[in-house]
Amino acid sequence: MVTLRALGPDDAAALTHIYSGASVRYTTGKPLTPDQAHDKIHKALARAAEVPRAQWSWSILHESDVIGLISLRRRAPTTGTISYILRDDSWGNGYATHAVHQVVTVAFTSAGLDRLEATHHPGNPASGRVLTRAGFIRIGTADRSTRTGTLPYELYALEARAPA
Ligand SMILES: CC(C)(COP(=O)(O)OP(=O)(O)OC[C@H]1O[C@@H](n2cnc3c(N)ncnc32)[C@H](O)[C@@H]1OP(=O)(O)O)[C@@H](O)C(=O)NCCC(=O)NCCS
Repeated sequence: MVTLRALGPDDAAALTHIYSGASVRYTTGKPLTPDQAHDKIHKALARAAEVPRAQWSWSILHESDVIGLISLRRRAPTTGTISYILRDDSWGNGYATHAVHQVVTVAFTSAGLDRLEATHHPGNPASGRVLTRAGFIRIGTADRSTRTGTLPYELYALEARAPA
């Protein structure tokens, strides 16, 4: 349904469309400028080259349309976090759920992680639904400082299944 491709320099224009409208309501709060999009990609490429690798960033494609961004970060040797954002006109088609499934597979195989965590804004239940459908369990909340003060973000975790 959707495919993932390593984020690249050609994705800057798509990123400015993804980080606008409703998509930024529960994330950064502000649309991304073209300069910020280039900077974001530049930083992601630099992090992708680090050894050992601690960050993976993919464009989410529906057919040839870049509709979102999904990232995996190593926070400790075997623990990582997942984050994602989709352009608002692509919501409601199961695309985020499908993208998260694919990144979970990478995390527990080639990235060598055994635990993933993710958070979402308390006003964004669709994101919690995406995580639940991908197998994550809600484990509580984590305070995050935002433009409007500190908020209890919903916190989810997923453990790799022990080998049989
Ligand atoms: C969260 C986000 C990625 C969802 O993308 P999406 O492609 O619409 O997600 P999916 O279609 O895969 O799944 C959405 C699920 O949420 C459900 N949902 C949608 N709105 C909802 C709401 N208001 N309350 C509860 N569930 C809701 C949908 O019914 C669907 O579940 P279902 O398949 O069981 O019916 C998108 O809204 C987004 O980019 N938000 C801004 C960025 C963000 O908050 N990222 C998460 C932090 S990492």
